[in-house]
Amino acid sequence: MTSPVGAWLGQLEARHLADLRFADVTRSLRALSSAYVERRDRLPGGAPLQGAGKRAAFALYYGPLHFLLIRDIVRALGAAGREVRPIVDLGCGTGVAGAAWALEFPRPPRLVGVDRHPWAIAEAAWTYRALALHAHTVRNDVARHRLPGAGAAVIAAYCLNELDPAGRAAMRARLAGAARRGARILVVEPIAGPVVPEWKDWAADVVRAGGRADDWRVSPDLPDIVRRLARAAGLHPHPLTARSLWMGPAQS
Ligand SMILES: C[S@@+](CC[C@H](N)C(=O)[O-])C[C@H]1O[C@@H](n2cnc3c(N)ncnc32)[C@H](O)[C@@H]1O
Repeated sequence: MTSPVGAWLGQLEARHLADLRFADVTRSLRALSSAYVERRDRLPGGAPLQGAGKRAAFALYYGPLHFLLIRDIVRALGAAGREVRPIVDLGCGTGVAGAAWALEFPRPPRLVGVDRHPWAIAEAAWTYRALALHAHTVRNDVARHRLPGAGAAVIAAYCLNELDPAGRAAMRARLAGAARRGARILVVEPIAGPVVPEWKDWAADVVRAGGRADDWRVSPDLPDIVRRLARAAGLHPHPLTARSLWMGPAQS
């Protein structure tokens, strides 16, 4: 029997290859990857998600990769050991990060996906439906979204590096405030040094406050579509790497 995640991946592929050829998605994936790796200065404003090809590449390639990576991180942290409600996914993109976390609970908590990009919001809503998650989406700037407190959780995966330094500093303070009020907070970013230059300092603060700062190298089984796209675009996703901050009440 196909698992819910397997079924989601099958639907995802059918959805994004319905109107685009594999070769078009591959070409867009190369462009998108170089935008992420080389031209981070052009990220604010949603530039990488312009055009059907790049959106398909983002959803089909980075979506499953981020899902698998976050799932491994959540498992390693034991982040689904205690009930939370809801999980707020800041800069949710296609919704995969919050979904990966929610699905680790025996009874997945409600999800709130927040993003400023209309395509991302629509795609996240589709992801939540495909995975049978109880969720809603909010189109908003993460800087303006009210953060929850005790009993809730917040994830920000690959989002904070898209904020300018002042926006990130403000978000860092707000996330620390939410953790003090009793929310569990998971921040995930790429390992690459310059992307969030203040990471070391932030990590030291988190550890001092009783949280965790980790670097990850994981090698989950990659779905067939991800392997095919990687091969065609000349990308090497294995192992997946990331770093995370985990804050909140007594770690479980
Ligand atoms: C690289 S994507 C990551 C998406 C998802 N979290 C994941 O792990 O796949 C970054 C997302 O953050 C969103 N984003 C960036 N800055 C934002 C802001 N100030 N307010 C709301 N969303 C923002 C972008 O629209 C994009 O969907």
